[in-house]
Amino acid sequence: MSKPLTITAALPYANGPLHIGHLAGAYLPADIFARYQRLHGRDVAFICGSDEHGAAITLRARKEGISPKEIIDTYHEINRKAFSDFGISFDIYHRTSDDLHKETAQAFFSTLLEKGALEVRESEQFFDEQFQQFLADRYITGTCPKCKQPGAYGDQCEKCGSSLNPDDLIQPQSTLSGGTPVKRKTKHWYLPMQEHQAWLQQWLSTGKFDGMQAPVTAHNPEEWKSNVMGQCMSWLQDGLRPRAMTRDLDWGVPVPLPDAEGKVLYVWLDAPIGYISATKAWAKEHGRSWQRHWTDPDARLIHFIGKDNIVFHCLIFPILLKSHGGFVLPENVPANEFLNLEGQKISTSRNHAVWLHEYMQDLPGKRDELRYVLCSIAPETGDSEFTWKDFQTRVNSELVAVLGNLVNRVMVLHHSYFQGRCSRAAGCEKPELHKAVARMYDEVQQHVEAYRFRNALQSVMELAREGNRHLTVCEPWKTIKINPEQAQADLEDMLWMLAHLATGLQPFLPDTAQRMLHMLNLPEKLNWQDEIGWEREHQLNATEMLFEKIEDTAMDAQRDKLTPQAPEVQPNSTLSPALGSISFQDFSRCDIRIATVLAAEPVEGANRLLKLTVDTGLDTRTVVSGIAEHYAPAEVVGRQVCLLVNLEPRTLRGVESQGMILMAEDASGRLHFVSPPEAVNNGATVK
Ligand code: MF3
Ligand code: ZN
Repeated sequence: MSKPLTITAALPYANGPLHIGHLAGAYLPADIFARYQRLHGRDVAFICGSDEHGAAITLRARKEGISPKEIIDTYHEINRKAFSDFGISFDIYHRTSDDLHKETAQAFFSTLLEKGALEVRESEQFFDEQFQQFLADRYITGTCPKCKQPGAYGDQCEKCGSSLNPDDLIQPQSTLSGGTPVKRKTKHWYLPMQEHQAWLQQWLSTGKFDGMQAPVTAHNPEEWKSNVMGQCMSWLQDGLRPRAMTRDLDWGVPVPLPDAEGKVLYVWLDAPIGYISATKAWAKEHGRSWQRHWTDPDARLIHFIGKDNIVFHCLIFPILLKSHGGFVLPENVPANEFLNLEGQKISTSRNHAVWLHEYMQDLPGKRDELRYVLCSIAPETGDSEFTWKDFQTRVNSELVAVLGNLVNRVMVLHHSYFQGRCSRAAGCEKPELHKAVARMYDEVQQHVEAYRFRNALQSVMELAREGNRHLTVCEPWKTIKINPEQAQADLEDMLWMLAHLATGLQPFLPDTAQRMLHMLNLPEKLNWQDEIGWEREHQLNATEMLFEKIEDTAMDAQRDKLTPQAPEVQPNSTLSPALGSISFQDFSRCDIRIATVLAAEPVEGANRLLKLTVDTGLDTRTVVSGIAEHYAPAEVVGRQVCLLVNLEPRTLRGVESQGMILMAEDASGRLHFVSPPEAVNNGATVK
């Protein structure tokens, strides 16, 4: 038997429905790969399931006012169905809320502890006093330290993409109570990732590492995609840091220790172990061995994911697998980039997405059309773009005009001249067709094995194009009148070619391939490069239309469904959430006065600063203000402004600033003075 091959696709959070970006990013490439491998008779376990823990779930539940359990039950079912509707041929679609997973994850964690792979540490974590709860990273928002935009989460700033720690946030705020969280001591188990830096570096860049032990075998780093390798190297270059593998949460896999009440496994420890527990569940159900797929030195492991999951699959999970011991490491992690939609990022929160379950309702029976287009434009090496216009063009001018047309012409002609009864056993007398077929197999093999599914599909379509050209040259509609035997031989050569075309199409367009095989009256499934077998007198089945043209109206309807989007939100136009409350006493410590600007001049070497001389009523003083990009000195002199007079003096570019002028920042980032509508005496207090 061939080597056990485990193909995983990222476990999607069961917190919402799936859209075309998910399909194009991970699941369709994984499915094509799995189907292709099965056609070679390889021992495939194609593993997926719902990721049902973590703040992604509890946040959604809070938002909808229902329990996390209700959320995961609903979306597990919706997503399971969507995958099956699109022919994603998982061998199992498991759930991380399953007991088998809990046992597996807890045992995994216990082994890590026994092996000394984790370190216990006390630390101060943000705690919401009102809700009496520690705050998961996602439950804390604040200003991003990197881009200075408000609304960043404790683990990531979605504006600039930086990954963050809650401690990095400026003015952190609890999303539960809206208040300022306090720090409380808590105990957690950390993965000292920095200790793994050296072997990871070696493993990723050379495929092996010092002290590598069975069952781990070397991979070939040349086969890894450059977008994936690039991200890994940049993480390593930044230096790895310890990462907590447990959380204070009431939703997740409980930490299996007596002194860990209220603590669960970190979702990014829990979820990838889900691949293992799902394999166990599959093995149990089918009388197979899960160990063969994870602990056998022959076992091949390949993770299909989107680019936001790279660090977890290429660094963290390998550290966990190696620390645990006994498991293989991934041979490859072919991550895709992101798919955009009609010129903008797909956004769940703004409902800018094509949802799989809605597509199925709106365009029933067109699942292979979507698979075709998404494979053709998959974001394999960089972000790519889906538009309905392009979808329509590809369906009409490629699927209908090239593939559908070829199959239809050959079938219809054979039926009309020869009633679909074959005059000889399957075969082909034309060397050029043999060559075209061999080239298709060859190219598809090379491309699929290098995770280039776009090119692979192109190679199959090239065979269909070749078929159309060939038909035009043979012209059976002419030869039928002068040499019917020739016409029949030509058409039957083409039938042979169609059978190979169907074989090649199976991983990509499984329905279409099956319908072609049915028309040809062949078995439902052909293996890769199978000989095509039929005897004399073989009877073809009736011709079916494979694809219909897509009309403009259908596309208009789809475009209308997309909520009109405001132009991409400029980072500056995002309002920051209100800060936590302060007492009146806190506020009254700010001494704000009305003051008049007497003089203004640029500060040397600082094109954003103006040096202002102001009359505060109390005194005349110097204030340095970052308004030079918004106001010319002449526009400022004579104005009354609000001035915080008791701000500690600060020296900016060598000039001491004694106070701060209050400015309003508008959506475009422009600053405006906050001035009294009519003249007020200098020194008047603002309160
Ligand atoms: N749920 C995660 C996401 O959607 C993916 C988890 S992949 C696994 O980004 F490895 F953790 F399972
Ligand atoms: Zn940022």
